[in-house]
Amino acid sequence: MHEERVVSGMRPTGALHLGHFHGAIKNWVRLQSEHPCLYFVADWHALTTHYDTPEVIEAHVWDMVIDWLAAGIDPSQSTLFIQSRIPEHAELHTLLSMITPLGWLERVPSYRDQQEKLADRDLSTYGFLGYPLLQAADVLIYRARYVPVGEDQVPHIEFMREVARRFNHVYGREPGFEDKAKAAAKKLGARKAKLYMEFRTKYLEKGDAEALAAAHSLLEERQNLALADRERLFGYLEGGGRRILVEPEVLLTEASKLPGVDGQKMSKSYNNTISLREDAESVRKKIRTMPTDPARIKRSDKGDPEKCPVWQLHLVYSSEQTREWANQGCRSAGIGCLECKQPVIDAVLAEQAPMRERAQKYLDDPTLVRNIVADGCEKARKLAQETMREVREAMGLAYT
Ligand code: TRP
Ligand code: SF4
Repeated sequence: MHEERVVSGMRPTGALHLGHFHGAIKNWVRLQSEHPCLYFVADWHALTTHYDTPEVIEAHVWDMVIDWLAAGIDPSQSTLFIQSRIPEHAELHTLLSMITPLGWLERVPSYRDQQEKLADRDLSTYGFLGYPLLQAADVLIYRARYVPVGEDQVPHIEFMREVARRFNHVYGREPGFEDKAKAAAKKLGARKAKLYMEFRTKYLEKGDAEALAAAHSLLEERQNLALADRERLFGYLEGGGRRILVEPEVLLTEASKLPGVDGQKMSKSYNNTISLREDAESVRKKIRTMPTDPARIKRSDKGDPEKCPVWQLHLVYSSEQTREWANQGCRSAGIGCLECKQPVIDAVLAEQAPMRERAQKYLDDPTLVRNIVADGCEKARKLAQETMREVREAMGLAYT
């Protein structure tokens, strides 16, 4: 059902690490069996900040897709594609820019935050200001229902909802809308048309959210309605014009609690990551040299797991039993830190083994990845073109 579509993207600016896996990607993998999912490489978004080092982006595009596949994204369930291969995103971005007040963009919190954080780069560009609008186009073009993202992206989703609302407000009004909506309702069949009108009244007069939801599922069931009629019926329900663009909702991804190998949050900018497919010897070495509770200088010093980043790894990777063993052993100096780290090393390696194996297939035969992405692009483009036809028509661009 197109109303239940999930869309998310990631900027190809570096190799994915275990923080990405435990944050975003695991969630993507879970979603793909519940919804039609579209996941894309946001190469244009990467260019907004890395416009002077395009080689960084180029180097990571295919690797990122391999990382996704390695992590369990299944190309037979999810649609994988590259943003810049669907130029319709750029077209929608341009068209949306006509109705997007500058103030909305300037007020998006990440705009100033990022400019300050990346002070070594000149981000006083149009592309950077327009970042959230391009992101809006990425999602709205697929009329997605859900966008799985982290906390930092919530204002961007809020922003795209406002843009969609404004678009529908400006372009969803057509002459004779009400009559057209009523005629569309009739096409549901007499019984459903009556239900639809009842739900609508309950929602509009009493704000009954359940009635709204019931009407939505009634419309969802009718897949054979013409697109324009669907838009009318969805819009009419809420008392507006045609709902040409769908306001998406956030599916909040819980931030990964995985510490990096220096104990700070795992992040490329801290240079403390373990990459998704890092080789086993390097993983062992990084975890073995991880800092621990500074109170444990000698083997006989007792420690406190709460003061140790390795404990955070136990919380993600270890069973109840192993955690109990580590906790006791640490507090009583019954075990040494290297001993304590071993089950974590084993668990990380066990997590990575199937990923390395899956990746190998694609490394051995790069055309597999190219084909997966080509298929994904084709599917995405079809959906994008469908929306663009509506958008062009609504904006008076369908000259004949
Ligand atoms: N801005 C997102 C990030 O930095 C990446 C992104 C681009 C995205 N377009 C998107 C995420 C569309 C979700 C939907 O993480
Ligand atoms: Fe950390 Fe384990 Fe050492 Fe305790 S024993 S300080 S939890 S590594």
